[in-house]
Amino acid sequence: MYESIIDDNFIIYRFLVKNSDRNVNYLIACKKTLNCVIIDPLDKDGIEEIINNNSLNPIYVFNTHAHPDHIKENSFFLNKYNCKLLAHIDCKNLFEFEFQNVFENDVIKLGDLNLKVLHTPGHCHEHISLILGEYFLCGDLIFNLGVGNVKFRGDVSMLFRTITHKVKNLPDDLKLLPGHDYLANNINFLQSIYSDSEVIDDELSDLLNQFSSEKLSPIFDLKFEKKYNPFLRIDEFTFLDFLDKKDLFKNENIEFRFRLLRQLRDEH
Ligand SMILES: [Fe+2]
Repeated sequence: MYESIIDDNFIIYRFLVKNSDRNVNYLIACKKTLNCVIIDPLDKDGIEEIINNNSLNPIYVFNTHAHPDHIKENSFFLNKYNCKLLAHIDCKNLFEFEFQNVFENDVIKLGDLNLKVLHTPGHCHEHISLILGEYFLCGDLIFNLGVGNVKFRGDVSMLFRTITHKVKNLPDDLKLLPGHDYLANNINFLQSIYSDSEVIDDELSDLLNQFSSEKLSPIFDLKFEKKYNPFLRIDEFTFLDFLDKKDLFKNENIEFRFRLLRQLRDEH
């Protein structure tokens, strides 16, 4: 079952892939032309259902990055619909198929739509994201209340710089559409690092209570992330004051704190 996010000029389709990593697959379609771009295809049947039900015409496959769960069905869609693959140039040693490079600030034309590309390295060097209107398709860069890991070709300093200097400067009303739905796990992590979990707002407890493994979490904007996402808050005294292991975070260097928080999340 998929959801449709309907705007004046476009529709974004999204659905939860039924796997333990809770991947989310997306298609963006121009309302007028029905041309569409498939983002990080993993669930072939789920994507085909959307294409068929809505008479869409795939023009591009867009890979936010080259991890296996984001490129698995590239070949199927490229062959079946004869569409173009768009990815960062650093994928050239990782892909066996042809692709078109996209760079920071490139604009991808899709029917009447303009999709803006951001280079967002850290989770891996080739990671790119897309902005369409008020939506931010951010792959594994940032999740609700978390950020991507750096275990597979990642670089935590680079991720820190992308989050701190790029993501935090994006407008508050930009809505996140991440590549995985990790909200519940990330709320659990947040509760685990607070000395008194009652300081976690009721809003988050309510979200945890409403969580269903079968359903996608709601969509949140960057204002919500700036309020709750610990990776965006490590420079705030009020955030540090409540931490269980606050002595660990005493180091004034913000990158050190970011690195430590990422490590604690990995160990959670
Ligand atoms: Fe990834």
